[in-house]
Amino acid sequence: MEMAAGPPLPLAALPGLLLFLCAGPWAEGGKVLVVPMEGSHWLSMRKAVQELHARGHQIVVLSPEVTLHVKEEDFFTLKTYPIPYTQDEFQYLVLGQSHLIFERVHYLKAFWKSMAVLKNVSVIFQKSCEELVRNGDLVRQLNASAFDVVLTDPVYPCGAVLAQYLSLPAVFFLRAIPCDLDFEGTQCPNPSSYIPRLLTRHSDHMTFLQRVKNMLYPLVMQYPCHVSLSPYASLASELLQREVSLADVFGYASLWLFRGDFVLDYPRPLMPNMVFIGGINCAHRKPLSQVCTCACVQSVRRAGLVLFFQLRPRAGGPPHLLCGFSPLILRLSLG
Ligand SMILES: *[C@@H]1O[C@H](CO)[C@@H](O)[C@H](O)[C@H]1NC(C)=O
Ligand SMILES: *[C@@H]1O[C@H](CO)[C@@H](O)[C@H](O)[C@H]1NC(C)=O
Repeated sequence: MEMAAGPPLPLAALPGLLLFLCAGPWAEGGKVLVVPMEGSHWLSMRKAVQELHARGHQIVVLSPEVTLHVKEEDFFTLKTYPIPYTQDEFQYLVLGQSHLIFERVHYLKAFWKSMAVLKNVSVIFQKSCEELVRNGDLVRQLNASAFDVVLTDPVYPCGAVLAQYLSLPAVFFLRAIPCDLDFEGTQCPNPSSYIPRLLTRHSDHMTFLQRVKNMLYPLVMQYPCHVSLSPYASLASELLQREVSLADVFGYASLWLFRGDFVLDYPRPLMPNMVFIGGINCAHRKPLSQVCTCACVQSVRRAGLVLFFQLRPRAGGPPHLLCGFSPLILRLSLG
């Protein structure tokens, strides 16, 4: 797809950015340690890892022995570590309750139910992270391997903690992060009158009451974020033997690669180390024959939900076909 008014082709820029960040002038390829998030998150990252490999970088992907989507492939070395769950337990605990998302119940009931599920799922990932960083042999091996950079999805902050523990620069690869941790970690301006909070379904044009709700929303999100993310700050504090806050964990990233685009996302302030690479999930992109504003949801085999979305063209530009998960799409599919 040609993007006349858009940023340069993101996939081409990604390895260049990584190389710029981590490789000396003598190096031909970098050594990249990948700490992925399981599930559909990995399916997005997998393509980028494949491209890094194609550009001559050496990739090691770290994963627990039981997995959902992370599997051995010829474009990276898979390094696994044991966790105290069987494949069935892991699968059931991570995916077993996902139907709750689609249940139509009172929203308070839905909230508490999903909190219970979140708690259970979070514990598994936290345990998995502990098993990783407390695995002395593995950590020694990784430390001795002299990686240039850690590429990780910050939704699973274990990669950020590990990078800091090994004193390696970290590159975050993400669609979005709840609780404004990208803003907090980078001290990015975040005026609640103008920036709609993730999942509020607000646009960037809010009424007074919507702005009030937008301002109060972080209070509601504090609990789920505390449950699912705070343990990583405690773990980092223990490993680094100093007080580490959650903002410190997220602030450690050298570079944030957002799988977003201002075609799909509302405008927001950015820090200089934030780069929008939206569209790289779309392996087969085609120009649109006609402008359309309908949203189609297609379930792709093994990929969970991928949302395909057609949009009006930007001023002067061609129509775009982007796929990904967007607050705009959420409004259409839930609203
Ligand atoms: C959470 O895990 C506990 C113990 O493993 C289990 O008893 C409970 O049913 C789980 N709750 C949900 C909502 O999955
Ligand atoms: C990694 O190796 C360096 C140099 O040998 C050492 O100082 C450091 O403590 C090691 N880090 C970890 C996390 O083991």
